[in-house]
Parts: sequence; C-alpha cells; structure tokens
Amino acid sequence: MRLILLGPPGAGKGTQAVVLSQQYKIPHISTGDILRKAVTDKTPLGAEAKAYMDKGELVPDGLVLKMVKERLNSGDAKKGFILDGFPRTKAQAQGLDAVLGEEGIDLVLNFDTSEDVSVARLSLRRVCKGCSANYHLKNMPPKKESICDKCGSELYQRRDDTIEVIKNRLKVYEAQTKELIDYYKLKGKLRSVNGDLEVSEANQAIRKILDDSN
Ligand code: AP5
Repeated sequence: MRLILLGPPGAGKGTQAVVLSQQYKIPHISTGDILRKAVTDKTPLGAEAKAYMDKGELVPDGLVLKMVKERLNSGDAKKGFILDGFPRTKAQAQGLDAVLGEEGIDLVLNFDTSEDVSVARLSLRRVCKGCSANYHLKNMPPKKESICDKCGSELYQRRDDTIEVIKNRLKVYEAQTKELIDYYKLKGKLRSVNGDLEVSEANQAIRKILDDSN
C-alpha cells in the first residue's frame, strides 16, 4: 500500500501515520521528521533547511525530492509506505510521480480540519526528544509532566509551534500545498477524512476507507 497523508499543519497526519504504520506494517516516512533529524545532527542538509523550517517556510523542492528518493529506495519502502508531509508542492507531486512510475500512489487521504483546531492543537503540542512521540497538553497529556510515557526522555516544544510560525505555516499550506487536493482528485486518488474527529474515530474512518478501496 502506497499512501499519502495530505492536510494542513496540525490536522493529525503524523499521529495517524504512527498508528497506521503499526496496523499495516509499512514504514511511516515523514519529511518533517527527516529534516528535523538532519538539523539536530547538523548535516549539510540540516544546515540548509533550518532557516526555512524556523520560519515555517517550505524547504526547496530539490532538496526535499532528493531526500525522499533516497528514502524510497531503501528496502523497507519496497512493500509500501505512508508519506506524511510530502508532497507539499505540485513540483514535489510531479517528482514523486516520476519516481514511482506507472504503479504510482494508491490513495491520498486528505485531512480536512479548521484553522482554529490546527492552532489549538499545535500550540499545545509537545514532542519527545528521544523517540519523537507526540503529545498534547490537553488532549493527550503525558502521565508525568514533561516526560515521555514511552521512553522516559524529556518533552520539548517544536521551534515552529509558536503562534506566529503556526499562522505562517497555515498560510504556506493555503498558498502552496492546498492545490494538491485537486491534483489528486483529478487522478481519482483522493479520499477525505474528517480531521476534527478524535484520534481513534479518525483511525476507524481511515481504516474503512482503506478496506473499501481493496
Ligand atoms: P512537518 O513536520 O511535516 O509539519 P506539518 O505539516 O506542519 O505538520 P504537523 O506535524 O505540524 O501536523 P500533523 O498534521 O502531523 O499533526 P500531529 O499529528 O503532529 O513539517 C515541518 C517543517 O518542515 C515545514 O514547515 C517545512 O519547513 C519542512 N518540511 C517538511 N516537509 C516538507 C516538504 N515536503 N517540502 C518542503 N518543506 C518541508 O498533531 C498535532 C497535535 O495535535 C499533536 O499535539 C497531537 O497530539 C494532537 N492531535 C493529533 N490528532 C488529534 C486528534 N484527532 N484530536 C486531538 N488532538 C490531536
């Protein structure tokens, strides 16, 4: 199964991708996670990407496409994958089509959610420094304050989860990514998911879509 999760920041793509990856035993490929790791590891890619990410702007297509091509060529992606946060521009979508060839993508799940919900979720998100697990101070708080339930590492707030940067990320989504809804609709690949649903309800809705498409 080759899936794309599309939707604005905070729509719940990453949260669902983690669960779906376990349920369907295919890798979760998040360009945001790969880029954040490159920044932490101070690689040349990270050094170039950091300024864009801190402002909530998109990292240039060429850099992102090269990175995704390398990731898709690794063995575990041969049996399928879940792309989270990629593609984000028409050039990236066309680049992906060229990499995948005739088989292409199976389905694109478009998470539909309002700006208010996105802002409320992202401003209270906390992420684990060790295993990158996501929490939300109100909706999904850790059992112990600031400590990851899964690995015991410290939780932090992403640099781009400030109100100012969140608002810019939402603008960037509207201006550069939203047109992909029509791009995949025209290909007959798009399915809509109500991103405002609670996590397990959204997961059930997605599983129904995936089962029905088989
Ligand atoms: P990226 O990491 O991809 O961020 P994003 O797209 O802005 O998405 P988020 O991770 O913010 O949101 P999400 O939908 O995954 O929500 P989540 O599940 O975490 O990208 C970051 C940056 O990297 C970009 O700005 C750009 O600079 C660069 N970049 C990445 N990919 C790129 C590309 N392809 N091209 C160019 N640049 C790129 O949930 C959010 C919060 O809500 C969490 O706290 C969670 O616990 C909570 N939550 C989730 N679901 C629910 C629910 N159903 N109910 C209640 N709370 C929920």
